[in-house]
Amino acid sequence: MDTKVAIGKVKLGSKFILAPLAGFSDVGFRVLAYQFGAGLCCTEMVSAKGLVYNSENTKLLLSTDKLEPIKAAQIFGSEVEFIEKALKKKELQGFDIIDFNFGCPMKKIVSNGEGSAILKKPNLAYDLIKCCVDNTNQEITAKIRIGYSADNINAVKIAKLIEKAGAKAITVHGRTRDLFYSGKVDLDMIRQVVEAVNIPVFGNGNVKDIDSANEMFEKTGCAGIAVGRAAIGAPYIFSTLNGKKAKYTLVSLIKSHISKMSEYIPTKVVVNYMKKHIAAYLMGIPKSKEIKTKIYAISSLNDLMKLMDTYQEIFYKNFEV
Ligand SMILES: Cc1cc2nc3c(=O)[nH]c(=O)nc-3n(C[C@H](O)[C@H](O)[C@H](O)COP(=O)(O)O)c2cc1C
Repeated sequence: MDTKVAIGKVKLGSKFILAPLAGFSDVGFRVLAYQFGAGLCCTEMVSAKGLVYNSENTKLLLSTDKLEPIKAAQIFGSEVEFIEKALKKKELQGFDIIDFNFGCPMKKIVSNGEGSAILKKPNLAYDLIKCCVDNTNQEITAKIRIGYSADNINAVKIAKLIEKAGAKAITVHGRTRDLFYSGKVDLDMIRQVVEAVNIPVFGNGNVKDIDSANEMFEKTGCAGIAVGRAAIGAPYIFSTLNGKKAKYTLVSLIKSHISKMSEYIPTKVVVNYMKKHIAAYLMGIPKSKEIKTKIYAISSLNDLMKLMDTYQEIFYKNFEV
């Protein structure tokens, strides 16, 4: 499992990559995931229109750090003119890879004709990727689902068009848009995509440990795996998947997460992000319910630090995975 994957000229340190996660794959989390051995970590999806209209929130989502060996941003949009303009914005210039989102199932995105709505318009997917390829030297990749609905499964067609347009890798979430995030992951359809294209395909959906990763590799032949939810609260999953041991304390994870985020993001926003992250870091830990209630009530980083001192036996405990 240690053959390396390359996306165009960008060589990944591992086949296991962090799937983009809105609200979670912030700069602090990505640095942690890289430190535990993720091969690639992408920003959450950012709106091409938001970038063009200089949205401050959109810009914050594109903060990156020198500790990220590869910088990847994910954009979404449905209008070629906006994509072309967005690619010229200075906020996107430092990225090695630009990933295009053709998978988001959320109603407000889909009703704008963006995200997974584009799966219903294969030629538009082609035009959007072609526009990216023609307007930047960065490597362009795409993230798709197997189709929009059970009666419209077209991942192979979409993947071939995306490859033809010049994309250098594709991540396939093995579900339709209608399934959102539950229901069976169609490994056979991912395999069909792997067989149809000559660029690396990352399998995605429900990989949470070595067994599920092996099943994904064996049944699909994918070049790598994108891990989403199983990494939330557990960036060390990348050590495990890479067959390595990792040691950590929650306080060390949380402090380094906060300090990296704070270099780029206003404190108030950091506190809000960290509430969700800490709830996830505490998953499966005794007293987590009691601590989570307290975490949701705090409003400053100082209070957060004090809370960790109050529960030293949990936050300072040594874990080994
Ligand atoms: C909270 C959350 C946020 C997500 N945000 C994004 C996103 O910004 N871009 C994207 O392409 N996919 C996004 N996804 C989808 C994941 O990248 C991934 O495809 C999906 O969760 C299935 O993989 P998993 O079973 O490993 O979680 C998100 C999923 C979740 C649960």
